[in-house]
Amino acid sequence: MANPVSKTAYYCTGVRMLDAESAHPLVGDTWAARFMDDEGRAFFDEFRGFTIPNASNVVRHHLIDELLRSRLADDPRRRIVLLGAGFDARAFRLNGGEWFEVDEAPIIERKNAVAPASQAANPLTRIAIDFAHESVADTLASVATDAPMTIVMEGVLYYLEPSAVDHTLGTLQQLFPRHELVCDLQSDTFVRRWGRPIISKIGEYGAQWRFHPADPAQHITGLGYRLESATSVALRAAELQRIAMPPWVIRSVLPSLRDGYQVCTFRGA
Ligand SMILES: C[S@@+](CC[C@H](N)C(=O)[O-])C[C@H]1O[C@@H](n2cnc3c(N)ncnc32)[C@H](O)[C@@H]1O
Repeated sequence: MANPVSKTAYYCTGVRMLDAESAHPLVGDTWAARFMDDEGRAFFDEFRGFTIPNASNVVRHHLIDELLRSRLADDPRRRIVLLGAGFDARAFRLNGGEWFEVDEAPIIERKNAVAPASQAANPLTRIAIDFAHESVADTLASVATDAPMTIVMEGVLYYLEPSAVDHTLGTLQQLFPRHELVCDLQSDTFVRRWGRPIISKIGEYGAQWRFHPADPAQHITGLGYRLESATSVALRAAELQRIAMPPWVIRSVLPSLRDGYQVCTFRGA
């Protein structure tokens, strides 16, 4: 992968591979190992020791799985766009949905080679784009709908310049006026107090953290969204006993850990 941010897809897939291979999987993404080629495994080997971020990443994926399962229970044909899909295998793992996976060309090519869209359990379309530099409006125009639908940006927004966040979300509001946005957000305090070691490690490969305002959810509501839910990744990880920290410590003593890294859902204001 030439783009360092695209390499981070191997990180997320690597942690899901470990989860799937563990005695008690949380997500159980058995596709993850298939996406991990030699490049991916060599990259991920550098991150095996980051046990708390790794566990948190799996919990994040689990939280979003739960959200999507709930949406699909209400609307089995719901359109779901995964923007910065990486090696997300939900179109293969979850029941229902009309899926669109959007990412840079090398990721899409690898996915097509390992897991052709035609083999997915649900209708799936893959779209290649660099959404920081190419026109999301043009590329996703054929997918536009005014029906209720969900857009997932998981592990994506903090790699974008704030101006690219504003522009991308503005375009999504035009193309998908009734969309729900599902994303994870990290605050500046969280990044400084808790995120430094892994962010530095990822930075060694050239991928920089760019979007981590003091209050990222407030930034997004300022773009015309309404915050519907915010779930603490760290607190949920502790409750699920995926990190060795009592939930009450995170709940009562460490607000920057509790609130600084959240899975959020937004709808148009
Ligand atoms: C940390 S990975 C997360 C992947 C996936 N959502 C997951 O959670 O497993 C970030 C993903 O965003 C994609 N991405 C980041 N910036 C992008 C851009 N400007 N255009 C297209 N894809 C981008 C990367 O290629 C990568 O697959």
